[in-house]
Amino acid sequence: MRATGPGYCAAMPVQPLAPTPDALARAAETLRSGGLVAFPTETVYGLGADATDDRAVAKIFAAKGRPHFNPLIAHVPDADAAARLVRFDARAERLAARFWPGPLTMVLPRRDDCPVSLLAGAGLSTLAVRVPAHPLALDLLRAAGRPVAAPSANRSGRVSPTTAQHVEADLGDRIDMILDGGACVVGVESTVLDLSGPQARVLRQGGVAQETLEEVLGPLASGGAPGVITAPGMLESHYAPDLPLRLNATAARNNEALLAFGPEEPEGFVETLNLSSSGNLAEAAANVFSYLRRLDRIGLDGIAVMTIPERGLGRAINDRLRRAAAPRGQARSVA
Ligand code: TXA
Ligand code: MG
Repeated sequence: MRATGPGYCAAMPVQPLAPTPDALARAAETLRSGGLVAFPTETVYGLGADATDDRAVAKIFAAKGRPHFNPLIAHVPDADAAARLVRFDARAERLAARFWPGPLTMVLPRRDDCPVSLLAGAGLSTLAVRVPAHPLALDLLRAAGRPVAAPSANRSGRVSPTTAQHVEADLGDRIDMILDGGACVVGVESTVLDLSGPQARVLRQGGVAQETLEEVLGPLASGGAPGVITAPGMLESHYAPDLPLRLNATAARNNEALLAFGPEEPEGFVETLNLSSSGNLAEAAANVFSYLRRLDRIGLDGIAVMTIPERGLGRAINDRLRRAAAPRGQARSVA
């Protein structure tokens, strides 16, 4: 084990490992002994630590440069394991049955005997829980035998990683292991749904579309309640590439790259990547973070983005693009 102190241990960079049974067993052992393991989920790669171990959780915040007020999601292999951490109600039962494993995170009241570190939950009386739909993640969670706190495995404020190579580039010198499970199929993070009060509220748009949740729950509120900080990670500028981003672009400006969507691509850009030339929002979500990384190249002046429809997974894509385009500096970047 390399990372032993409360901070990260800048040692030899680690390289992504093929997910052999041996690598998986070592990853589970690394988690159990307080280390940091990056692993694939269906949404983005997570940076995992034993959620019940304060020192291990502290290493996540240190490696990412993440402010401690921003709570982490506890990952578990099934709904029974989640129900040992938080208090389920009838809505949560229905949602778990329909969407788990899958890209839905539920924020619920912590149980009195919840073993998750208060640091992981940023001291809140609620806890975010999720069962990821990735065979490797589920195997790792079962083998670890405890809840795993895992934010996206990027440095705070940067674009989330959808391949093991993205994780290596951002955090390879700060963590103990990277399990390589290939590219993430969903590509945007889970939907964060607050079920801690009577009115369910979408705190973060993500891999389960709000419209799909509404089939189960009826009309949903989204965003924070007026004047109230509900999802600490959602207030800030975020997901930022180095280059400035320009939204709803229809024509080229000098020395720009284009992030296109749909069959009609405007001409005149230095380079163009099309999120989905057929206009498929699921395909666009799977591509958005890796294309932002690829277009974020030295020598260009900016990235222009075409309009993406605000429905289905388009809501999550637009949310990430708006944050990426938000003014830097005045807002802090957090997750
Ligand atoms: O898809 C995902 O959710 C990925 C993969 C790795 O599972 N994880 C992820 O974690 O995106 P992170 O830490 O980057 O984002 C978690 C979000 C943050 O906006 C955080 O503020 C919010 O969930 N959150 C966590 N616990 C919360 C709580 N108790 N109440 C409100 N918001 C919470
Ligand atoms: Mg994140």
